[in-house]
Amino acid sequence: MDPVKELSGRFAAALRKAFGDDLAGTDPSIRRSQHADFQANVALALKGKVPGSPRDAATKILAALDVEDLCDKTDIAGPGFINLHLRADFLSKCLAQAAADARLGVATMPAPETCVIDYSSPNVAKEMHVGHIRSTIIGDALARVLGFAGHTIVRQNHLGDWGTQFGMLIEHLVDLGTGIDDASVADLNALYREARQKFDASPAFQERARQRVVLLQKGDEPTLAHWRRLVGVSRTYLAQVYERLGVTLKDADIAGESLFNPMLDGVVAELEEKGLARVDQGALCVFPPGFKSKTGDPLPLIIRKQDGGYGYATTDLAAIRYRLQKLGGTRLLYVVGAPQAQHLTMIYRAAEMAGWLAPPARAEHVAFGSVLGKDGKMFRTREGDTVRLLDLIAEAEERALKVVAEKSADLDPETQKAVAHAVGVGAIKYVDLSSDRVKDYVFDWDRMLAVEGNSGPYLQYAHARNRSILRKSGEATPPPSAIAIAAPEERALALALLSFGGAIRDVEKSLEPHRLCTYLYDLSQTFSTFYRNCKVLGADTPAERASRLALCDVTARTLALGLDLLGIEAPERM
Ligand code: ARG
Repeated sequence: MDPVKELSGRFAAALRKAFGDDLAGTDPSIRRSQHADFQANVALALKGKVPGSPRDAATKILAALDVEDLCDKTDIAGPGFINLHLRADFLSKCLAQAAADARLGVATMPAPETCVIDYSSPNVAKEMHVGHIRSTIIGDALARVLGFAGHTIVRQNHLGDWGTQFGMLIEHLVDLGTGIDDASVADLNALYREARQKFDASPAFQERARQRVVLLQKGDEPTLAHWRRLVGVSRTYLAQVYERLGVTLKDADIAGESLFNPMLDGVVAELEEKGLARVDQGALCVFPPGFKSKTGDPLPLIIRKQDGGYGYATTDLAAIRYRLQKLGGTRLLYVVGAPQAQHLTMIYRAAEMAGWLAPPARAEHVAFGSVLGKDGKMFRTREGDTVRLLDLIAEAEERALKVVAEKSADLDPETQKAVAHAVGVGAIKYVDLSSDRVKDYVFDWDRMLAVEGNSGPYLQYAHARNRSILRKSGEATPPPSAIAIAAPEERALALALLSFGGAIRDVEKSLEPHRLCTYLYDLSQTFSTFYRNCKVLGADTPAERASRLALCDVTARTLALGLDLLGIEAPERM
């Protein structure tokens, strides 16, 4: 049972009684508050709609409010707030109901939608850079949270698997001869660098690469066979990365640029028919209003290049049409670095001009900042190369193993390794998700892996400690009905636990995973205070012990579910 929902119902009745049916639906905006358990803000919302000051309105509402069974105290504060102090038995009842539910009492959204989430989206034959890592981690957390909130999630990995760079890559493969096997194309990164060097050095190679692009676009079978191999190797690599990272993206979620290739002619034809395209300096362009270049000229989206080829923008136009019309998306998320903000906004505007993107459907850029090294510059290896994701994970596991071996010396080596994997990967994800998404953040191993402070390992330890209390009790976890809130620390913990749904709704709306991180961190701290002040295993009476053990259990389950929604494992023992 959600206390806010119960209270809102009573406010609706009070509003009806005090002001009639018309105002009964006014949102009482009940929030947690420092001054009381909750505070309602409804009187301010009624300003101008009812006679008198907000304080008068609050007085009238309070007189009509029937919450005796829910609150043991209500009063008016400030210019029209109503303070609500909940009764302990009501809190106990709410929490017991939440505890009896696998979803911990969190209801699904009243109007579920189809959310199409574009995330990860790396490029074939290029190492995933830190930007793709952020996209992968943030996108996956959002997919999990929105899915839990009840929405239908369609994942779209917009893999860069098409384009002119394949001309030089394939030509380089041809030069290497047919003797090479898939293993030797495994290091696509190196292959890309070699091809690039040749391309820059040799005009003859450039010409061959250009010819090869034409062949690829024509669907020449031997050329396609090379292309398929490159993409295949890449997909295998990605599957491995996603597996290691514990990311929900599957091979079937890949909807790469090549998928849209057959649709590009049609997209351009439709834009022309609708009178939205015009030729500018030889290229066919759409000019979404409001975009100007540095010199003040209207900025184009190039939909067909002078040479007749299509590029990134045309593909994105085809993709947005596909996501709206074929996939039936109404909420389109693009988890892409902040530098692509202008490109994406232009795509949305063009899709609106074409009539594809129209309410209730909308597109949102889930932008994120860069990852910086301790020197404040782009995060790189000591040698100055981009950091390879698999190396990063390996290093995280290695560092985490040191922490685990020290903190959890009693675990057997196998378990230590598994825990180190969870801690290492969890730390990478948590540092990313807990920072303000649009800002840059500094990659700092020590802070990430610290077992104190707002870190992944801290939350994982908080969860495992809870589990160990339950194990030590030596009995089955008491049923939710055992919960009876009495001490102030129990009360604080109950209120924190009952705010889980609010944190989920917050992330659902704002698309900011750090709000869930902050919630979980606060919850752990509230739990610590409870555990310091309230004896659990040594409680005074069997009833108190059962209630407190049940509180430990709900806390552990809330932490585990919350971490899972962030894509982070919560080991039972650490
Ligand atoms: N592959 C692109 C890159 O690495 C990201 C694609 C983002 N998604 C999109 N629909 N444009 O920059």
